[in-house]
Amino acid sequence: MNTHKQFPEKLNITLTCASGVEKVLKSELKRLGYEDAPALNGALSLSGTPYDVARLNLFLRTADRVYIKAAEFSADDFDLLFEGVRAVRWEDYFPLNARVTVNGKCVKSKLFAISACQSIIKKAISDRLCGVYKVNRLAETGALYQVEFSLFKDVVSVYINTSGAGLHKRGYRDLVGIAPIKETLASSLILLSDFYKERPFTDPFCGSGTIAIEAARIALNIGGGVGRRFAFNDWDNFDGKLFDQAFTEAKDKEDRSRKLEIFASDIDPKAVKLAKRHAERAGVLDKIRFDVKDVKYFSTELSCGTIVTNPPYGERVYDIEEAERCYKSLGEVYKGLDRWSCFVITSAKNFEKKFGKKCDRDRKLYNSNRECKYYYYYADKKDK
Ligand SMILES: C[S@@+](CC[C@H](N)C(=O)[O-])C[C@H]1O[C@@H](n2cnc3c(N)ncnc32)[C@H](O)[C@@H]1O
Repeated sequence: MNTHKQFPEKLNITLTCASGVEKVLKSELKRLGYEDAPALNGALSLSGTPYDVARLNLFLRTADRVYIKAAEFSADDFDLLFEGVRAVRWEDYFPLNARVTVNGKCVKSKLFAISACQSIIKKAISDRLCGVYKVNRLAETGALYQVEFSLFKDVVSVYINTSGAGLHKRGYRDLVGIAPIKETLASSLILLSDFYKERPFTDPFCGSGTIAIEAARIALNIGGGVGRRFAFNDWDNFDGKLFDQAFTEAKDKEDRSRKLEIFASDIDPKAVKLAKRHAERAGVLDKIRFDVKDVKYFSTELSCGTIVTNPPYGERVYDIEEAERCYKSLGEVYKGLDRWSCFVITSAKNFEKKFGKKCDRDRKLYNSNRECKYYYYYADKKDK
């Protein structure tokens, strides 16, 4: 029996992203040629092929993970859950030696014990594979296949995680700074702003450099996942040539020679050192000018540009007075930047008051489960 047959050509693909950035992800998909991707319960779905799985993992900047949806059915008892999972053609996805883990969540459902559901699902998958492969038990000595389920209002959805670690883990950030923002959220902030390739850009609270690095990678068209591996890279039944092909496409689309005006600064010399390290690892060190600077001394000779920044929130390392001083200083500096726009994410409720100006618009976003607002100040709406 061929236990290493290739993945099915037709796949239901599900993309997850942080709450509030679904539209940004949808625009990304559109730019990649995926027009039809309806959003449902905080995820986007589309039909595609294994090649699309490779492409989406490599290119997307704002998705958390790329999943293959293996099944969806109703189940309000363990028997139905077992039968529903066993009915899936797992042999299409998992070879004989697959190491399968199961994780998930239960929300507003009769089956609410997560660990019991996990065990039932795992048993149903093993039962199916043992029957098809004609073995008494699975050796589980091969590559890891992570199954994730969600039980919502008695509807079970079962997914295979093709990304592995979340896509925010681009691979360049190896050391942790003070309150870093996820790379996927940083990209979302930039894509929501008015930044475009050659426009000057700065983050005056750069910390470990995430926002400036993502801006440089966006401007140079470096795919979000370029530089890391994905779960499917370890799967013998996933045609490696498809990844090579998607990788070649990603490399062909890069424009590393583009001249950029990206600046990043922070009051903390250790943060700036770390940001430089990460920029080097991300392949964009020569594209960003780093500086150790208190935001109150920020100045630029460039007549226009975009600020995207994630200042202290006054919750963890910095107290609220220090955070408010930062907002005030940023507001003062911004007054002198005539044709610059400014985009700030913070959870501080009185940000606009301290910044000294009402925003043109705002949007609710989450930074590591903390509810925040993203404040937009557009250059063309500035008082002259
Ligand atoms: C929330 S962290 C930024 C994290 C960053 N986005 C990242 O991904 O690593 C806020 C940063 O503001 C810096 N900071 C605090 N006060 C400052 C000031 N007055 N001027 C400039 N930077 C300041 C801190 O050193 C810290 O790195």
